[in-house]
Amino acid sequence: MGCSKLMYLNSKILQFSVPLLLLNNKMNQDLLIRLFKSIEGEKNDDIIKVAQKIIDDETIKGHSKLADRLKNILDKNISSHETFHKELKTLLPNGAFIPTDKRNNIPLATPINQHDLRHEMILPVEVENKIRRIEGEFTARERLALFGLKPKKKVLLYGSPGCGKSMSAERIAWTIGLPFLKVRLDAIISSYLGESASNLKKLFDSLNNYPCVLLLDEFDYIAKTRSNGQDVGEMHRIVNILLNLLEDYDAPGILIATTNIEGTIDKAIFRRFDDIIEIPKPGKEEIIRLLKTTISTIEIDKKVKFSSIATKLENYSAALIVKVAQDAAKFSVIQNRKIVSQEDLEKAVEENRLYNSK
Ligand SMILES: Nc1ncnc2c1ncn2[C@@H]1O[C@H](COP(=O)(O)OP(=O)(O)OP(=O)(O)O)[C@@H](O)[C@H]1O
Ligand SMILES: [Mg+2]
Repeated sequence: MGCSKLMYLNSKILQFSVPLLLLNNKMNQDLLIRLFKSIEGEKNDDIIKVAQKIIDDETIKGHSKLADRLKNILDKNISSHETFHKELKTLLPNGAFIPTDKRNNIPLATPINQHDLRHEMILPVEVENKIRRIEGEFTARERLALFGLKPKKKVLLYGSPGCGKSMSAERIAWTIGLPFLKVRLDAIISSYLGESASNLKKLFDSLNNYPCVLLLDEFDYIAKTRSNGQDVGEMHRIVNILLNLLEDYDAPGILIATTNIEGTIDKAIFRRFDDIIEIPKPGKEEIIRLLKTTISTIEIDKKVKFSSIATKLENYSAALIVKVAQDAAKFSVIQNRKIVSQEDLEKAVEENRLYNSK
């Protein structure tokens, strides 16, 4: 076996997390067989080509029995790898696809059907206008292009939990009619060295020509500040690749990232967004609208004092206000009253008080 081939194989072994073996001419058959059992990949992968060359060398040396055995192992590994990976790859239009993580074959993003997207939102006027601007710029992208202008493509939404960050991303996709894909950070983050960063890159590469809204939900999980002592090594690598991906992102869709801990995000990451929007907790006016909209399928007693209920719900998240309204509606339905009263609402507020972490 030539020296350069050995060096190449060594580097491949390292890359595929197989323990580094010192290969030399005395490498015994058992070691070769063990090594071959750990090789996996597709026919055109470099590692498979190198393995094939080793088999050829062994045949030339007259070790035909060993060569046959190695070939059987390799063929089996290639076919099980291909079956496994073929099954789960999600094909999308324009030659795009959702790649999977190499180890567990988990898709790196989840598509959500257009009709399942949450979109009926209640937001303060200024926030509503900012979101509409993103939608409007995307819709007018061709007109903007005539003047050498581009719509906002990279948006960061931040704010406290349950106030509509993820929902805003869905609503944007719903309004502009783009497919919606949610990045699966659980699949992206791998315990294998270097794989998290390559997963992230693989996903962005495969969606390069696919117009969609790509949601990096709760992305602080990977974008924690680089000065955070705990997140060394692999996390640094991911943050760096994320910086490059954000910098270069020019796909035909919109990338939306969300976080509820804006203070700890790396400043370098912040700079790379075209727009940063705070999704705040609802004010009194929004609280009343949220209550009324949620209870809209049932009659509401005209005597209900929404203003006093809203005062009690100040500083609550939109999600909790929706829950209060639903609970009040359920009290009235279960008691066959079919009309929601002040008492129903007050009881629901009281019951949900504990959930509110101010
Ligand atoms: N502005 C809003 N208008 C109407 N409903 C809302 C709004 N914000 C939140 N909700 C309700 O709260 C639920 C949760 O919202 P969402 O998942 O968008 O919160 P989030 O900000 O992403 O929270 P987290 O930080 O926990 O991920 C929604 O499904 C919806 O019922
Ligand atoms: Mg969310």
